[in-house]
Amino acid sequence: MSARPEPATLLITGGAGYIGAHTCVALQRAGYRLVVLDNFCNSSPQTLARIERITGQPLEGVQGDVRDRALLDRLFQSQAIQGVLHFAGLKAVGESSEKPLEYYSNNVAGSLVLMQAMQAAGVKTLVFSSSATVYGTPQFLPYTEAHPLAPVNPYGRTKLMVEDMLRDLHQSDADWRVGILRYFNPVGADASGLIGEDPRGIPNNLMPFIAQVATGRREFLNVWGNDYDTPDGTGVRDYIHVTDLAAGHVSALQHLEKTPGCLTLNLGSGQGHSVLEMVRAFEQASGRTIAHRFAPRRAGDLPAFWANADEARRILGWEARCSLLQMCEDTWRFQTQSAEAG
Ligand code: NAD
Ligand code: WQD
Repeated sequence: MSARPEPATLLITGGAGYIGAHTCVALQRAGYRLVVLDNFCNSSPQTLARIERITGQPLEGVQGDVRDRALLDRLFQSQAIQGVLHFAGLKAVGESSEKPLEYYSNNVAGSLVLMQAMQAAGVKTLVFSSSATVYGTPQFLPYTEAHPLAPVNPYGRTKLMVEDMLRDLHQSDADWRVGILRYFNPVGADASGLIGEDPRGIPNNLMPFIAQVATGRREFLNVWGNDYDTPDGTGVRDYIHVTDLAAGHVSALQHLEKTPGCLTLNLGSGQGHSVLEMVRAFEQASGRTIAHRFAPRRAGDLPAFWANADEARRILGWEARCSLLQMCEDTWRFQTQSAEAG
């Protein structure tokens, strides 16, 4: 009888955050052993316990900063890490204009320190959380991966800088296996209702705001603009269920394990939905009325964008499966259940 192979170990930076936590669930289910590094600046250690509860498998949580080179060196020396999924970073577009240096430090310097530690340790597989924000004002829609890259805010520029660093690194050493994943608008929550998006303070993003109106925590939703050149005048985005997004990471990693290279892929549903469509879907999922008012356009907002997701389907055989209703039902379940879960 042959011995069962040891599960591969991965380092997940920012794994207690919204997308990282859902990806941890998917990776554990796919058989990986996980070490999660997070400084909990926008998350809680409780999420790691909940991931374990969902999958029934333990993970190793390490509290620390991705910019701490000595800590990274210790992790790479003490654990047989074979690849890294790098979620850690700051993500609020408005805040990135107010505190650009924090964004360059966390997102750019953090990624640089991580790449340096990986190179020193000989770990050369890295999947990076990029964003559709790198495209900037649409020259054409839907965005393909070949769309020009011209982000319009500091947050987007940090993502593009890290992408450029990764492309240069791969160019210098073809042994690197790099996955640059450009997420569109992740929403929804794990079907268990145990993990989801729980922003601190007033939510910036549409879905968490709608969810808080549904529970009565906020009085009404401001719909930022109803005079755009879109079917109903409100902004159009490509919403993707976070569980689909998590599955996309597993597919990308497994592809890189077989095929060295530098892979850049849009992860979106390929469909645009308006703010009012989101409101109606959430009303259907929750059985609550979402009070809303039309308000002036939000500064910096694009009227509409969505993904061409053909490349991910062609290369990975991955595509987003969940409906808008499912995204809203899972968000609602998390919103109503998570507080009771302990
Ligand atoms: P999140 O804030 O929920 O998760 C990020 C995690 O990283 C948090 O747990 C936070 O505590 C941790 N972190 C931040 N800085 C750190 C540091 N210096 N060292 C260690 N840990 C640190 O955000 P998210 O929505 O899960 O996003 C994950 C990644 O995906 C981010 O890089 C984000 O820019 C990117 N992204 C997010 C979206 C989105 O809409 N949510 C879209 C595109 C790209
Ligand atoms: C969606 C739509 C708003 C709130 C941002 C970042 C992007 C990415 C995802 C990280 C828009 C409208 C929203 C509200 C509203 N993050 N809206 N009332 O702006 O597409 O993308 O998050 O990479 O980089 O820019 O997402 O959820 O804020 O807005 O009417 O209270 O909902 O105008 O049309 P956005 P969002």
